Amino acid sequence: MAASELIHLAADLSHYHTDYLWKMPGSWQGYPYYSSPEFYEDIARTAARGVMDMLFFGDSGGTPEDYGGNHHAAVRYGTKWPRHDMMPMIPCMSRVAEGIGFGITMSTTYHHPFHIARVFNGLDHVTKGRIAWNAVTSRSKNEAANYGYKKMIEHDVRYERAQEHLQICCLLWDSIEPDAIVLDRESGIFGDPAKVHLLNFEGEYYSVRGPLPALPSPQRRPVIIQAGQSGPGMDLAAHYADLQFSTRRTIASMKAHRAELDTRLAKFGRGPGECGILWSVRIQVAGSEGEARAMEEHYLDSIPPEAGLIELSSMYGLDFSRFRRDMRLADVAAEVKAQNVHWGSFEEILKTTDPNLTVEQFGRRFMTERILVAGGTPKQIVDKLEQWHFETGANGGFMLARGFSAPGNLQEFVDHVVPELQRRGLSKKKYAGATLRENLRK
Ligand SMILES: Cc1cc2nc3c(=O)[nH]c(=O)nc-3n(C[C@H](O)[C@H](O)[C@H](O)COP(=O)(O)O)c2cc1C
Repeated sequence: MAASELIHLAADLSHYHTDYLWKMPGSWQGYPYYSSPEFYEDIARTAARGVMDMLFFGDSGGTPEDYGGNHHAAVRYGTKWPRHDMMPMIPCMSRVAEGIGFGITMSTTYHHPFHIARVFNGLDHVTKGRIAWNAVTSRSKNEAANYGYKKMIEHDVRYERAQEHLQICCLLWDSIEPDAIVLDRESGIFGDPAKVHLLNFEGEYYSVRGPLPALPSPQRRPVIIQAGQSGPGMDLAAHYADLQFSTRRTIASMKAHRAELDTRLAKFGRGPGECGILWSVRIQVAGSEGEARAMEEHYLDSIPPEAGLIELSSMYGLDFSRFRRDMRLADVAAEVKAQNVHWGSFEEILKTTDPNLTVEQFGRRFMTERILVAGGTPKQIVDKLEQWHFETGANGGFMLARGFSAPGNLQEFVDHVVPELQRRGLSKKKYAGATLRENLRK
């Protein structure tokens, strides 16, 4: 996707209102963020001011019940909860901020391909070609139960279904040729039936007749994002994605990830330029690296001591309250693996952290260090971004993760880090194309 070597910039707005941010200095207070699109409109304007490529919303329809076996921690502390459907915010944001694109998550496991193809066609029209779909297979047990499953569909089967699902979506988006609409008032011809195609798709999991009853949208199909790190997840990305979203934490593992994706892209007849990677990074602007670390300690001291274990539980679908606090990371690895929920990211932690850390020690660090971290002056931050970008193939960019305040963290990034990126010619100064896909290519 990233045909240029520019650093592409996105911001992850998942859990932007919860997960302890609501009580931190620099965050809004008492703001009715969900019933008030103005909050997200302001964020979109800020991101567009920084000529960022995309605002991104993760999603799950689940309430975490992993820690302690119930929903109490999630509700008591507001961790990963509540989680509204953010799709209605997208048309609001796109109307007030030009250039910026919007990524939204929908599950291939719980939503029918016909519905998804139709919804993203509509969003692409409304945003004038600035929509992206994060295609996830969904890993939350509570979400599975909300959609009527007594037992979650098994990991690899979810990915098999996803392959078929995306195939159908793409066929539906291609089922109307761009010049199918004639609108000839004299002859009274609206469209050319020869340019609108039935699918008659009969697969293992889905049956769809087609065509999509819609006009072709500006991008024809949304920019497709995929974030799985397992073999089947990487294959899904290699087959269909324009962008991958990854949480690797060291240059060595970022390089290995890039190389693996390139090998899998070749398997599907695609080249590295067709799928960029956005590396998740937490950025903290401060007077020095030491000051950034002090801010991090302040954040960690102000959240409940069990916050890290709650977070680990919901991430890996396992109750970390059950483990003795002095158990080592390496001791719990087998149980995490058995869940097959995000195992790739836990494996990454084992490879890049001291596996002798206790679960309790690691829990605290997990809150701030599970992804790349760049803190300090804008120059120090951009030095790191530049090094990571060019050492891993300069093919994609970064997804700004939540910091310790919202929207303060994004504002600081746009006001202080983006100008340094632009000064060095590393990120763009204006939007080059009309659509998100065009902007990602330039
Ligand atoms: C950075 C990142 C963001 C993700 N966002 C979501 C999300 O919003 N919703 C979701 O259900 N899963 C999300 N996932 C989970 C993945 O889509 C995938 O289900 C998970 O990594 C397990 O698949 P894997 O075994 O292929 O890694 C995300 C994963 C990563 C690494």
